[in-house]
Amino acid sequence: MGEFHRALAAADLPPGQCAEAAVGGKAVAIFNVDGRFYAISNTCLHRGGPLGQGMLSGPSVMCPWHAWSWDVTTGENTANPELKVPSYPVKVEDGQVLVQVD
Ligand code: FES
Repeated sequence: MGEFHRALAAADLPPGQCAEAAVGGKAVAIFNVDGRFYAISNTCLHRGGPLGQGMLSGPSVMCPWHAWSWDVTTGENTANPELKVPSYPVKVEDGQVLVQVD
């Protein structure tokens, strides 16, 4: 199993918010869904939009470019679950959000 890498401070990402982070050389989108943190690839499968700049509603993020919607807990497209962006394990330690990307 790969290592967990620091993405950001948990206090910097309130519930309902999303952020982009470079984690272990990968562009990752981080989400706070009611106090639980999730991480998926930052790159939308449609045209590469930045999912960490999207709009989070419950567990779904809407891509800021053309409004495709993704379940941040699984990486699945909400309209077509056969489309899936990578999702990554997350843990919080000492107030830091850590993501395992490899
Ligand atoms: S790039 Fe995400 S919906 Fe088009």
